[in-house]
Formats: sequence, structure tokens, C-alpha cells
Amino acid sequence: MNNAKYVVFDGMDGSGKGTQIELLKRKFGDTVLFTREPGGTPFAEEIRRLVRDNPLAGKSTPLNNFLLFWAAREELQHNLVVPALLSGKHVFSDRGDSSTFAFQLCGEEHEELFGAFILMRKLVFGNDDRRRPDLYIVFDLLAEIARERALQDVTRTKTHFDIRDIGYYERVRNGFKKFSDQESVEFIDATKTPEEVHRSVLTILAEHMIFPVA
Ligand code: TYD
Repeated sequence: MNNAKYVVFDGMDGSGKGTQIELLKRKFGDTVLFTREPGGTPFAEEIRRLVRDNPLAGKSTPLNNFLLFWAAREELQHNLVVPALLSGKHVFSDRGDSSTFAFQLCGEEHEELFGAFILMRKLVFGNDDRRRPDLYIVFDLLAEIARERALQDVTRTKTHFDIRDIGYYERVRNGFKKFSDQESVEFIDATKTPEEVHRSVLTILAEHMIFPVA
């Protein structure tokens, strides 16, 4: 047994998640394994290119997209997350299964995938050797603000995920709320300044006994 923790950072596009993860990288350095979803291993990055960047993914079935996110996650778990946790290293992931729940099930209104979601969680996280995230930190903000920020961000590569109406953003936001009914989720008000949000993140991590090295 060791005290390594698996933390997922999540939120709507435009929530400032990327900035927060950069600040955490500076603070925690090599003491934490930083990764992202979909992606994180060479094969999972290939799946990322398929599911995120290939416009054909937008035309595929909801179940297919759902399964591709889980395929990338299985790959990441097996090759990176579990070995890191077993070696005693914390893992901080940019997105996780909370995204699949919020985006695919709630945002895209495919709640018929709920049973499959539970099953995939069991398959991918369920065995003794494997670990589901200990904590999810969600950067929360109003749907209107998230959409506006995402649209104005000229540095973002526009993908089929970006072209959405306001209702979609609202459903995604509620999706994260709904996800927190079952899991350990901490919400942070993402309209605060990056420094304030960063301080809130560090406080939450400390409450979970995760501290940066001095
Ligand atoms: P990315 O450009 O990394 O977005 P961000 O910087 O906001 O994290 O693209 C990842 C996209 O994939 C993002 O729009 C959310 C989406 N996604 C899902 O729809 N389901 C998932 O399970 C995951 C992990 C991501």
C-alpha cells in the first residue's frame, strides 16, 4: 500500500483548466505524473487523433465515440496510471471519465449509454490492481461564459467538439454536477482569477494529503 493519489482535473472548454494544470506542473514538477485524456501514451494519442481531430469521428455513432474514449482510457490506465500509482507516484490527469459522463452522456444526450458507462468503469477501473480516480476537481462556470471563452480563444484548434450551442454547454455543466452524486468531486468557481483558482486547487489537494515538494 502507498499513498499515491489519482486526481482528475475537468471542466468545460473555456474553464481555464489548461492554465491551472500548467501552474500545477510548475509547483509539483516530477513528483507527480501528469497526463491527459484522451491520450497520454503513444497509442492513446493515436486514438485521440481519431476521436478528437478526425472529422469522421463527428459522423460516427455515439456508441463508437464513447468506446473510443474508453479505449484510450484503458490504454492509459494499463500503461501509465496503474504503474505510476503502484510505484507511489501521484497521477494528475487533464480530464477523465467525468468528461465522458458530462460530454457524451449528458451534453450529447445519450443517457442510454449509462449502463455501458457503469460497465466500462468496472472493466477499466474495477480490478484489484487498478484504481479509479480518488478525486475529481471540476472548474465550474456558467455555460454562457464557457462558450464565449472557448469561442474567443484563438489559440485553440477548432474541432467538432467546439461548434456547439448554449444548451449543450448547459447540459455538460449539469453533467458534471450529476457525476458528483456518485463520485468525490470538488467544484471550483472558475470565474475567479487564475491565482485564486490555483490557491483553491492547492487547498483541496492538501485536504487530500497531496502536497507540493518544498
Ligand atoms: P482538448 O483540446 O484537449 O480540450 P481541452 O483542452 O478543453 O481539454 O480536447 C479534448 C476534447 O475531448 C474536449 O472537447 C472534451 C472531449 N472529451 C470528451 O468528449 N469525452 C471524453 O471522455 C474526454 C476525455 C474528452
